[in-house]
Amino acid sequence: MFTPDSIDVKDERFIPFISQEQIAARISLMGKQLDRDYKDLNPIFIGVLNGSFIFLADLMRHVQIPCEVDFVKLSSYGDQKVSSGNVTTLKKVDARLEGRHIILVEDIVDTGLSINYMLDQMKAHKPASLAVITLLHKKEATVHPVTLEYVGFEIPNAFVLGYGLDYAQQGRNLGQIYILENEK
Ligand code: IMP
Repeated sequence: MFTPDSIDVKDERFIPFISQEQIAARISLMGKQLDRDYKDLNPIFIGVLNGSFIFLADLMRHVQIPCEVDFVKLSSYGDQKVSSGNVTTLKKVDARLEGRHIILVEDIVDTGLSINYMLDQMKAHKPASLAVITLLHKKEATVHPVTLEYVGFEIPNAFVLGYGLDYAQQGRNLGQIYILENEK
């Protein structure tokens, strides 16, 4: 696994923040919780691309009940560290979602804009239930109110990188989560 002591992207230095071991332990617990909560419901995980792909891959392998997976892709921040305030869908879900138990999978909820947009989109499909699981939540930054059923880690309002999360498309391949050095 790629877990350097620090990593530079553009002109910014990032340092370790949440270790591989901490992430793995939390995901294992979340998997057990999902097994209990979704027993006999055959939930469908919907990963919000690109950021959620590593979290979703690890999470699904800790889930032992029957389940399915699909993906949506939203427009991203571009190369910025702050939200542009606009969200659009770049790829829709292929699966039929009416009457299904949907679990939306996010890497991080920051302002809450993206997840609110996703929840609105999903509600239109008339699912039997709709829940959100996010690896990270920047609670202080969330200005669009949202209920998050499952949260891996509450983190401060600082820019993080790695384990699927990017800065200017870089750093997704890091095996743990890093934080901007001057924000720790
Ligand atoms: P929101 O719409 O402001 O809640 O932002 C959600 C999306 O912004 C996430 O799915 C990420 O793609 C991206 N994002 C927010 N904060 C960070 C961060 O600290 N590092 C990397 N990406 C982030």
